[in-house]
Amino acid sequence: MSDHVRIVEVGPRDGLQNETILLPAAVKIALIDRLSATGLATIEATSFVSPKWVPQLADAAEVFAGIHKVPGVAYPVLVPNLQGYERAREVGATEVAVFTAASEAFNQKNINASIDASIDRFVPVMDRARADGVAVRGYVSTVLGCPYQGEVPVGDVVRVARRLHDLGCHEISLGDTIGVGTPAKARAMLRAVASEVPMAALAVHFHDTYGQALANLLACLDEGVRVVDSAVSGTGGCPYAKGASGNVASEDVVYMLHGMGMRTGVDLDRLIDTGAWLAEQLRKDTASKVTRARTAG
Ligand code: HMG
Ligand code: MG
Repeated sequence: MSDHVRIVEVGPRDGLQNETILLPAAVKIALIDRLSATGLATIEATSFVSPKWVPQLADAAEVFAGIHKVPGVAYPVLVPNLQGYERAREVGATEVAVFTAASEAFNQKNINASIDASIDRFVPVMDRARADGVAVRGYVSTVLGCPYQGEVPVGDVVRVARRLHDLGCHEISLGDTIGVGTPAKARAMLRAVASEVPMAALAVHFHDTYGQALANLLACLDEGVRVVDSAVSGTGGCPYAKGASGNVASEDVVYMLHGMGMRTGVDLDRLIDTGAWLAEQLRKDTASKVTRARTAG
């Protein structure tokens, strides 16, 4: 099994979308440029959703246009529909991500659509992306629990992941949106999805609400997943998922992986500096334990 893990840094998007302090576009651009210098291969830059729904990312076009695109680094962006796709393409995005959920109740709150209706909206996005040579990632939220529905049957996760893959998504990210999962459940969910979608096309996305994210991640690495979403400084959360808190911190993921002899290509010291800098911008303590340990005193 490969010892290389690709980290998908979601801090500039998932990390910021739930923050109440509105950061200026220049700070977001500086954040992404700093992340680009850490060795990360994939940085989710922003989100072309409705600015009424997520005011923090209303400046998506300005941010995307302003970042220094480092060759070899991918800068995917979230798009909920064709309108978002067109806005993203206008500023030159070459990778996008669509998102839906395994729970109907959450999907309604998050994108005002049923699962079927959301997938119907993706069809024209996929068609255009195919014609434009744009890679599309697919997110499935609430894979280990829903803030409105409670338990989410594994079969529902498998079905939605399979549909996104069949639609042409090159990678499916499985999101524990509210961070309620535990390792055995995470492992069983991933194993079930991997019976229908190749493991090489799967990623895991753990929020750390209950402090389970690294443990869940380890269980999934053990199953063979090699793409991991995380957010610098442990920022993150979905404004439409009651009780959701930050993503697992990228610094902590890199520290764990390197400690296990795995490769990420990421310079941990630079990542720690960037996380500490971001926490200052947001005027809050970092949620990364590694950063706290390294910058203490
Ligand atoms: P709606 O209100 O049903 O949309 O929202 P609509 O099609 O009826 O349009 C209403 C208005 O929005 C119109 O403007 C449209 O032009 C505009 P008006 O005529 O009222 O002035 N609009 C847009 N404007 C800009 N860009 C667009 C766009 N689309 C419509 N793309 C919609 C439906 C999907 C747009 C809305 O619900 C939305 O934007 N939701 C996004 C919510 C969100 O961003 N959530 C967080 C991301 S998902 C997440 O965090 C989970 C994840 O991290 C994985 C995990 O942790 O599980 C990925
Ligand atoms: Mg998320």
